[in-house]
Amino acid sequence: MTGAAAIQAASVTPVLTQRWPHQPWKLANYERLDGYAGLRQALRQTPDALIELVKQSGLRGRGGAGFPTGLKWSFLPKDVGAPHYLVINADEGEPGTCKDLPLMMVDPHSLLEGAIITAYAIGAHQAFIYVRGEAVHAARRLRQAVREARAKNYLGRNILGSGFGLDVVVHAGAGAYICGEETALLESLEGFRGQPRLKPPFPATHGLYASPTVVNNVETIASVPFIVRHGADWFKSMGTEKSPGPKIYSISGHVKHPGQYECELGITLRQLLELAGGVRAGRSLKFWTPGGSSTPYFTAEHSDVPLDFEGAAAAGSMLGTTAIMVFDETTCIVGATLRFIEFYAHESCGKCTPCREGTYWMEQVLRRLEAGEGTEEDLSTLLDTCDNIFGRSFCALGDGATSCVVSSIKYFRDEYIAHVRQRRCPLASHASAPLAAQGVH
Ligand SMILES: Cc1cc2nc3c(=O)[nH]c(=O)nc-3n(C[C@H](O)[C@H](O)[C@H](O)COP(=O)(O)O)c2cc1C
Ligand code: SF4
Repeated sequence: MTGAAAIQAASVTPVLTQRWPHQPWKLANYERLDGYAGLRQALRQTPDALIELVKQSGLRGRGGAGFPTGLKWSFLPKDVGAPHYLVINADEGEPGTCKDLPLMMVDPHSLLEGAIITAYAIGAHQAFIYVRGEAVHAARRLRQAVREARAKNYLGRNILGSGFGLDVVVHAGAGAYICGEETALLESLEGFRGQPRLKPPFPATHGLYASPTVVNNVETIASVPFIVRHGADWFKSMGTEKSPGPKIYSISGHVKHPGQYECELGITLRQLLELAGGVRAGRSLKFWTPGGSSTPYFTAEHSDVPLDFEGAAAAGSMLGTTAIMVFDETTCIVGATLRFIEFYAHESCGKCTPCREGTYWMEQVLRRLEAGEGTEEDLSTLLDTCDNIFGRSFCALGDGATSCVVSSIKYFRDEYIAHVRQRRCPLASHASAPLAAQGVH
């Protein structure tokens, strides 16, 4: 049985994280723990069989959008006279998202092994790992892993005697959130300013250097060797029907034990909080993000929503990157939302007007609301601005910026109004008391 109903008790499902306690960044340890066994198995199969296997497994992209991975690989045109490229998105700039960095730091060879298998499947002889610029430590760790892999013939012109050749370049990114958007990433990788490209054409046909390119997230690629070793049915035995497999949920904020919890897709917040020791002592849950700052907030009433792609969407949010940020009742909703919008206003690349102007103005309005200088009309201004950004921006950064504003007003309108009527933040002077205790309803 699969699905949320099957996940009775809170439990972790270590797959991608199973080697983490055993120092797998050392190649000898990685090999002892079946490292590169998936690659050996993959090289005995045809590229098409591998694409079919990943399609059958139901693996969906872990970078946020959940696009079926095998299907993406199958879009690459053959025989177009241009090289194929694999680009791994290790930019991880979304606030709250912190799963790819630990994965690369602790188990860099699992990413490399996945990269080699993927490159073989899509016919690429050159792969790039685009690591966010600030993560110097991760780039250093990956480069060391690449050197070791080359020395052991896991990379090179004739990998393990198979006749297949691949090289991997670890590229330090430009330190901007927008460079995680796949086409902006490609621009940046080519040496241009990181701004999104018009789609179509999609990277599958016109990607890096206008050649067929697969862009996949770190966690997506690191899942591939496990699917090769254990099969599509094994992968589908975890998670839910349309969102199979394990997933690393990153829990941060007001919980006792923040960290990475790898569980089956479809687990609920209630179960995850059990694993993370619950909300910090004496406090209660106020709101949370299911998948990073660009996914609409949930509240305590969503504690039993199955956290897979379908469940999160049906309840009015998105699974995103499964970056669960937990906020207790001491958090001012206006202040928290302002912090998010400050981020989006700062990170807007400026290419299109709705996002560039909209995020700037939302920041100004939220700033005065937080300071107790706003009006009730400001709420309509905010929602109106969101209407003008959502669906009218050039890329998904703009859409994502509206999530926190719209959902905060949907669930906490009274708290916004309290800021206006009391002409100050109702939580400011007694940050530990819940709103109801302060007479705010
Ligand atoms: C503003 C913005 C930032 C993004 N940042 C990342 C990121 O840091 N890492 C990532 O894998 N995907 C990110 N994405 C999603 C990518 O565009 C792309 O969908 C993803 O890399 C595809 O990989 P997947 O199919 O394995 O999920 C971002 C998208 C947007 C709009
Ligand atoms: S939506 Fe924002 S980040 Fe995306 S292209 Fe427009 S200005 Fe740039």
